[in-house]
Amino acid sequence: MKVSFADTRPSGSYALAIPVWGEDMLSDRLNGLDENARTLAARSAEAQRFEREPAAIAETFVTEGNTARRLLLVGLGGKRDDEALYEKVGGALAAKLLISGETRLVVDASGTGMGAEQAAKIAFGAAARSWRYDIYRTKLAKKQKPTLEEVVIVGAGAADGEWQRLSALLEGLSFTRELVTEPANVIYPETFVERARAQLEPLGAEIQVMDEKEMAQLGMGALLGVGQGSVRPPRLLTIRWNGAGDANRKPVVFVGKGITFDTGGISIKPAAGMEAMKWDMGGAGAVAGAMKAIAMRKAKANVIGICVLAENMPDGNAQRPGDVVTSMSGQTIEVINTDAEGRLVLADAMTWAQRTFKPEMMVDLATLTGAMIIALGYEYAGLFSNDDGLAEKLTKAGQASGDKLWRFPLGEAYDKQMDSQIADMKNAGPREGGSIMAATFLQRFVEDGTKWAHLDIAGTVWANKPGSLYDKGATGYGVALLDRFVSDNFEG
Ligand code: BES
Ligand code: MN
Ligand code: ZN
Repeated sequence: MKVSFADTRPSGSYALAIPVWGEDMLSDRLNGLDENARTLAARSAEAQRFEREPAAIAETFVTEGNTARRLLLVGLGGKRDDEALYEKVGGALAAKLLISGETRLVVDASGTGMGAEQAAKIAFGAAARSWRYDIYRTKLAKKQKPTLEEVVIVGAGAADGEWQRLSALLEGLSFTRELVTEPANVIYPETFVERARAQLEPLGAEIQVMDEKEMAQLGMGALLGVGQGSVRPPRLLTIRWNGAGDANRKPVVFVGKGITFDTGGISIKPAAGMEAMKWDMGGAGAVAGAMKAIAMRKAKANVIGICVLAENMPDGNAQRPGDVVTSMSGQTIEVINTDAEGRLVLADAMTWAQRTFKPEMMVDLATLTGAMIIALGYEYAGLFSNDDGLAEKLTKAGQASGDKLWRFPLGEAYDKQMDSQIADMKNAGPREGGSIMAATFLQRFVEDGTKWAHLDIAGTVWANKPGSLYDKGATGYGVALLDRFVSDNFEG
């Protein structure tokens, strides 16, 4: 999406959007249109029961000289401090126009009191909502193809600085959505690494890749056990961004679950809906996209993103229920259920991350449990943490970014249900509180002094219906959250 900011409406053809607050006089907003056009716009808004609700749209055509123009009145509601409002407005306009035949959208914000920050957010919302991945659709009808190419925001100042920051976020978000959308015959551990390298190295981020031989030398038996049923070998990808200016400043570390396909392994999943498990790498996808956003805007922080990549397949060489594996931490695990694989790969990645980087804080993101969707639906991701301060920082970043989080408990009574008869722990406990059981398992791999949070994003990575900033499909959840978490807490 081409984005620009201007003082006056351009000439030529475009769809014109006029944002209106609840208390505005419509005639004030419509100046610049002639008398007839104003009457038509006002009457058609009324006829469509347009009440200026946030991001509601009334559409009409008005004459301008001897041509006609598509006019969209878009509601702003009444809350000027609603941070999420402006991107929602941009998103709604883009959804309306994306395949409408219009190529250019002009949003005339003059007189609304909006400044550069809000203007940039409208543009961001429009661009984010327009993202699609049509490369495999060779027979898309012309009418179904996107036409909208450009957004111009008028009358809210020159927002180029604000836009630079948000366009970095947009690039990160798009990269995550691409990784999550691609099928598992295209994105597997090695190709995930290559795409991340191509995106991140040119931005000055350092890429380090560990293969299965090094994993074996380090004793990563939990991670290797998951990968051993697949012909695609596992990889541990590390993306480093040293932006703090002080290489010795302790980094913040993000760890993402990157199961590029989760069949369940020998504890195989039912066939119906299994295709969804191509997005079981959504945690790793979010980490890679967030690192892209962070590197693109040259964040003044030391951030490390780790993607733990493997494919969980049933095979003659796959691990079996009942197998006992030894993790890098030295702790042994009885694999009760090979479908509880995310926690196994994360365990070794977390141990390695803590021992290698001595992080200030470590946050993992994972599509870890179906139980998370039962608990929270698709609106919030679950937050689990051993540190109240960190939990609060993440919750705040969640509110500000729109990637919302809701905290769950941890504790000894839960933890002891993960004890095994034959090994130090089992990888699957009772069904009840399944998401907490998984988090509790992960906590056994958090070392003394590490502030840690686990985000179970199983319900938020993929949407079965469009949202305000995404179409059906990959949402890019987590990118805005991590970017905001870094900018609010590590760049001071
Ligand atoms: N990747 C799944 C969790 C998941 C399920 C994410 C549905 C998104 C949608 C995970 O690896 C898994 O299979 N978890 C099991 C754990 C159980 C075996 C203890 C689950 O949730 O059923
Ligand atoms: Mn699984
Ligand atoms: Zn999984």
